[in-house]
Amino acid sequence: SRNLVVAFGGVSPEHEVSVLTAMQVIASLKETNYNIIPLYISKSGRWLTGDLLLEMENYQDLDELKEEATHCTFSHDNLGQPVLLETEKKGLFSSPESYTIHALIPAFHGSEGENGAFQGTCEMYNIPYAGSNVLASSLGMDKIKAKDICRAHDLPIVEGFDFYESEWVKDQQSILKFAEQLGYPVILKPVNLGSSIGVSRAEHKDELIEAIETAFRYDENLMVERAISPLLEINCSVLGTAHDLQTSVCERPLGEDETLSFEDKYQSDNGSQKGMASADREIPADISDELTQKIQSLSEKIFKLFRASGIARLDFLVNADTEELYFNEINTIPGSFSFYLWEESGMNMRELMLKLIDIATE
Ligand code: DAL
Ligand code: MG
Repeated sequence: SRNLVVAFGGVSPEHEVSVLTAMQVIASLKETNYNIIPLYISKSGRWLTGDLLLEMENYQDLDELKEEATHCTFSHDNLGQPVLLETEKKGLFSSPESYTIHALIPAFHGSEGENGAFQGTCEMYNIPYAGSNVLASSLGMDKIKAKDICRAHDLPIVEGFDFYESEWVKDQQSILKFAEQLGYPVILKPVNLGSSIGVSRAEHKDELIEAIETAFRYDENLMVERAISPLLEINCSVLGTAHDLQTSVCERPLGEDETLSFEDKYQSDNGSQKGMASADREIPADISDELTQKIQSLSEKIFKLFRASGIARLDFLVNADTEELYFNEINTIPGSFSFYLWEESGMNMRELMLKLIDIATE
């Protein structure tokens, strides 16, 4: 059978979300001909493999996991084929093995796993991988560059500005003045992150200062945007390649607040993780057919504009009163690969993953 590497974890603050997505991918591919090989990157950046990494329950204690898993790296065999090479072996009488890689699914969220760095590594080893290439991945991760591209093509975005930590340290007043000019309430976000980590809404200056100080824990580049109010968040997924695309139904993520926090999306009251799949959402979103079609066609357009491939979830902001629509961001590795948006089209997660592998290897 063919070896399929599922790669996940990573040094990103979205590490835990990535583990959830990867476990869903692995579960969905159990009944196929693929031999699944996990490539788990620990929070400190170590590359690990081994069967114990296939089971969700083994992620309770990440330090213990690190002790028991096998270190590995990419390499080539004698024929020049890419392999996952064990660089040590746990256990007394076994020796390190290597596995020919037929295809790989990056199931990372955030940072190096989603921003093109890992995708570039795959290219260097000639490994076919699912999803977007280096360019689309890095453009998608940088919310400011993503907006710049949309602006250049006259696509609707929310006004805002970005700044670096060094600028904040040097001249807080100018940044606060820019925010004042946008008008409160404003939304603060890290430029290079997802899963709502570090995102907050500020009603006034003091709240913004506090939000900024917190968000610098996650990214040295932050952005401030005018808040849309009343806000309706609508997402749509696109599947395929520039030549052969499909769009999914629209979803409306349901948060208590006007913006979904990390806790809304991934953690339940008792602190355990619930994952994107069970987060509250309305599918299909209860919006007009006209708005649905507008969102679907804008999604296709932006997917192509970014040269995305495989799958992406595009997130939009809508003014609920006026139905004014704004592009918010493109996620080149959406949580749970947004499989739940494709069930409506009669495609389950296994079929979706097989389709992504097909696109990667064709
Ligand atoms: N970054 C998260 C996983 C998402 O956008 O789905
Ligand atoms: Mg995102």
